[in-house]
Amino acid sequence: MFRQGIRQFGTTALRAAAAEGATSYGVRVSQAQGVVNGLTEAIGNTPLIRLKKLSEQTGCNVLGKAEFQNPGGSVKDRAALFVVKDAEEKGLIRPGGTVVEGTAGNTGIGLAHVCRSKGYKLVIYMPNTQSQGKIDLLRLLGAEVYPVPAVPFDNPQNYNHQARRHAEALENAVWTNQFDNVANRQAHVETTGPEIWAQTAGKIDAFTCATGTGGTLAGTTRYLKTVSDGRVKSILADPPGSVLHSYIETCGKLMERSGGSITEGIGQGRVTDNLRPDIDLVDWSLSVSDEKTIEMVYRCLDEEGLYLGASSALNVVAAKEVAEKMGKGHTVVTMLCDGAYRYADRLFSNSWLQSKNLRSSIPKHLEKYVVLP
Ligand SMILES: Cc1ncc(COP(=O)(O)O)c(C=O)c1O
Repeated sequence: MFRQGIRQFGTTALRAAAAEGATSYGVRVSQAQGVVNGLTEAIGNTPLIRLKKLSEQTGCNVLGKAEFQNPGGSVKDRAALFVVKDAEEKGLIRPGGTVVEGTAGNTGIGLAHVCRSKGYKLVIYMPNTQSQGKIDLLRLLGAEVYPVPAVPFDNPQNYNHQARRHAEALENAVWTNQFDNVANRQAHVETTGPEIWAQTAGKIDAFTCATGTGGTLAGTTRYLKTVSDGRVKSILADPPGSVLHSYIETCGKLMERSGGSITEGIGQGRVTDNLRPDIDLVDWSLSVSDEKTIEMVYRCLDEEGLYLGASSALNVVAAKEVAEKMGKGHTVVTMLCDGAYRYADRLFSNSWLQSKNLRSSIPKHLEKYVVLP
């Protein structure tokens, strides 16, 4: 479905570009990209970046999928597009309708862009513990936002249930239900997985990432396992406070949630419907501490010039550890889910790092990046 509007440029364009000094590689990329029809066709097809220092250090190809280049700034644009498309295809929403979702983060931003582009209204429910900045951003992207008391999932007042009821009470409205709507996972079966396979020309040995809804890990794993006849390894990366690492380690016995993490958008207390069909395909899992994650936020900035959010940094830690475990010569791919822009006031703040006991995790030579008080 992506890039349906690609225009083929002729040799005249090639000659003109060559005359202006463009590299033939650059021209080929531009040709392949062509023109896309509106924002929704600009979602996906992100670059796969070789992380040079980590590749050198491990003797592997450590590759990160630049999801921060999506129009809404994160990997969740893919899921947002697919859940809306799915509702359209099932006749659950018609022109002028309303999309309702419970989300505190990137899915809301992705949905806001997709809904504006397609002419739908968007209603977002979120826990009232979220920052005013997030609420303001969603509102300025055109969403109607309801911050509601932060209560557990089994409480009917939980923000997800309120979102569902809101949609049920409206005509021509749909609750997109990102956690258990498998159209989310399908986005990665149809786009992320095939893109990674094509970009590496099938030379990929392992894929690793953390999970929020589980859509990215599940869908990408499903595609890569299928296309490689099971050869590509899949590794779950888990932050503290999530139960999935222990679920996989104990072969399906869910453990109590303990502790918490500075990462946002990832960590899970249950096996969602998006993850369930594919969790048995996961080969092993890693738990990544906040200390390692925050150090990698700074390392990626210093060594690679990549300004990444904490979930991406956690993924890069996991990719490095997978590369070390597999040994030299392997190719390991992970997701660079979003940039640090929305988190800068915390990740680069001296007092915030101290409040999380993470200040000492920043190596001496990287302290210059702690620029906020
Ligand atoms: C920053 C960030 N990273 C990772 C994820 C996890 O992606 P998924 O929901 O596909 O598991 C999310 C999900 O919201 C996110 O916002």
